Order: sequence, then C-alpha cells, then structure tokens
Amino acid sequence: MSDSFDLIIEGGTVITPGGAAITDVGIRAGKIAAIGPLGAAKAAERYDAKNFTVLPGLIDEQVHFREPGPVHKEDLESGTRGAVLGGIVAVFEMPNTDPPTTTKAAIEDKITRATGRSWTDFAFYVGASPENADELGTLERLPGVCGIKMFMGSSTGTLLVADDENVARVLRSGSRRVTVHSEDDFRLSERAAMVSAGADVSMHPEWRDVETAVRSTQRLLALARKAHRRVHVLHVSTAEEMPILAEAKDIATVEVLPQHLTLAAPECYQRLGTFAQMNPPIREARHRDALWKAINDGIVDCIGSDHAPHTREEKARPYPRSPSGLTGVQTTVPVMLNHVAEGRLTLQRLVDLMSAGPARIFGMAGKGRLAVGFDADFTVVDLNAKRTIANDWIASKTGWTAFDGMAVKGWPMATIIRGQVVMRDDELIGKPIGAPVKFQETL
Ligand code: DOR
Repeated sequence: MSDSFDLIIEGGTVITPGGAAITDVGIRAGKIAAIGPLGAAKAAERYDAKNFTVLPGLIDEQVHFREPGPVHKEDLESGTRGAVLGGIVAVFEMPNTDPPTTTKAAIEDKITRATGRSWTDFAFYVGASPENADELGTLERLPGVCGIKMFMGSSTGTLLVADDENVARVLRSGSRRVTVHSEDDFRLSERAAMVSAGADVSMHPEWRDVETAVRSTQRLLALARKAHRRVHVLHVSTAEEMPILAEAKDIATVEVLPQHLTLAAPECYQRLGTFAQMNPPIREARHRDALWKAINDGIVDCIGSDHAPHTREEKARPYPRSPSGLTGVQTTVPVMLNHVAEGRLTLQRLVDLMSAGPARIFGMAGKGRLAVGFDADFTVVDLNAKRTIANDWIASKTGWTAFDGMAVKGWPMATIIRGQVVMRDDELIGKPIGAPVKFQETL
C-alpha cells in the first residue's frame, strides 16, 4: 500500500538537498519513499525527531580497523560499533592490515569477516604496491571495494609506493579513485636521523615537515595529470598545499581531518605527548587556520576521521618508537557539530563534506543524499545537546580519545542505516546489519 511505511521519522528539521524543512520522512524497504507531511500515513514504526535535526547519513571514508592482524587494537566489530555510536552510517576501511589488503583473496576475506559483524555499511580499499600495481584495474572492480590506497610515505604497516615510476604504474592501472597518503618518503628517510635516536614528540612536525608534504603532493599531481587519473589527497595538513590543490580541481579531491582542524602544535604535544602523534603531523595554528579557510573557500571535498587506533601502552612508548595515529571514528560527528555551534562552518557544509562529498568522490550508488529513492541512511542529531566527550564513551578496544574532556554542543542521537535504527540515545539496537556499499558501474 502506497501510504504505509516501515518507518516514519516525524517532525524533525530535515536537511534535504534543497535546504532545511521541518517535515516527515517515510521509509519503505530500506529506501527513502517520501519526504513531506505524513501525519495520516500508517507506519510499522515511528521515530519522534521533534527538536532534532535529520541529516543524510554521515560517511567516514578513512578508517583503520586492524583486522586481520593486530586485532588487539581494533577489529571490524569494535571499530564499526564506535562508528554507529558516533553517528556514522558507512565506513571505508584502509588496507594496512596484516596481511595488507593487496589481493583478491584479502578483499574477499575482509568482506567475509565484516558480514554479520559490521554495524555500519562498509567498503575496503585495495592497497597499492609495486607487486600488484598492474593488477589494480581488476582488483578495484571487486564488489565491496571503494578504491585504491597508495602510501607515498611510510607510515603504520608495510605498504609503500615511493618512486615516480611505481606511482605512475599505479595511476595507469584502472579508473577508480586513488587515495593517497602524500608525504615524500625520500625526504622522510634523509631526515629520519633528526628523531631516530630519540627526541621530544614536538619534533614530529619538524621531521615530517611542510616540504615533505608539498614535494609529494606536487609529484603526485604532475603524475596524475599525465595518467589522466583522479586522485584523492588524504589528510591534507599544510597551508602550503591548499593553493596547489585549488589549482588541481580537474584531477584531485581533498580530505581534511578533525584532528588537524581542532588541535595545534605546540599545545597538543605539551598536553597529549605521543597521544597527539600522527602522520601527517598536527602542526602550528597557522596551518589549522588555513585548513578552515580551505573548508570555507570550498577547496576541501570531505572530512574523514583517519581512525588509527593503537593501545595506550603502545602510544606511551618513548618517541619515536610510539606508533602514529589517533582514534576518531566515534568523535568526528560531535567534534564537527561543535565547530558548527561555534560558527566555523555551516551545518549544510558539514553535510556536504561528510555525506554528499564522499558519495561524489567515490561514485557511491544510492547514498550521500537525503532524497526519494536513496538508501534510508540518517544521522539524527541534537544541535543543542551539551555533552563532554570522555574516554569511557569510546567503544574502540583502545579506550581513549585525544578529545577526552572536550565539552561539545551537538550530539548524534540516532544512527539509521537502510531504515533500521541501529543506535538510539547512545545505545546499540539489534544486530550488526552492515552490508557492502555499492558503487556506480560506469566510473
Ligand atoms: O598516523 C597514522 N596512522 N597515519 C597513517 O597514515 C596510518 C595510521 C595507522 O594506520 O596507524
């Protein structure tokens, strides 16, 4: 019956592509079936969203969930549990696991592991390496694959494609988006002696300096143009890269992270020590200001968390033996809503960066838009809720966040995935129903 729905989300401020409206959303068979006043319609279930804002489902296109491999840090169940508690409906997971995700068998293994255990919808990156460079065009077409990940600078794990010849081979093979960790590995090696014998963690952005990032991004963009291949530059951290990327909108999209938008050196290293250590590093406030300007100038295409869990014991090792990476999949939405509350970006822009942005960059099918016919994915938020982010809220096996103690205004109240309410009022509901994300066939 056309006037009966599985779920009606009632009376929220609904963020549609055309703007905000106080209205209802009707869901049938996992899809958005109607947007508008549905007072008289029948529904198996109703969600009262009065006083709340209904966003299209927010997506995290960069997480590291460590499975298979060092699952004492995280696994696909714990990582995605943190995601839905934090208002995220879908994640794209990185290939620097053990073994790395560089083969068909490794992709299929991850999909098998995620099925029945993932709370969010999911897709996996294929890791680029000199060994698989010529097969990437085939690997990227496997179901459940979102694109390629290439590390041009060494970070956690063994994946690395450092030299121009191999970067060019990766860019020539296939047509899906190549996401890139852009730090110049040659410069990193040349300068490693600055820290290798032991140093204060505040040296991290000195070693992995602005030139390390700029040099790599310039090399990448030149090679991408030559190969006519679209790239996505991950976690851009320097002021200097933004004008370069603004000139490259034909070929490159840009991600920034809440860590780089919220924390700054030297304060973060004084306060958090190695718990602020990540690659690329958190830098001085002038870089943070430039990232905000790039958000508001429209240069930035999306925000991801780069959730990169390491245990407290591992992080507490003396620098540089301390591993790089911060948790983030659960805190991105409240931290970014707080930036909205403080006027640094609009809610509409946040939705563009975390829903429409990833859908556009990766060619997701049926996600990234609160519109009839799209998946019924929603992040329901209370823009007025005042909470404090605390370690004891964090589902990650590592149990810590660099934002512990941060007072925020704005909180995810419900996560709805293909019409199923999977998180409500900080509680999980039901079972992990996550399924592979689908992508447009023609890209
Ligand atoms: O800080 C980081 N940690 N940067 C990366 O590129 C990898 C990540 C991790 O997997 O730990």
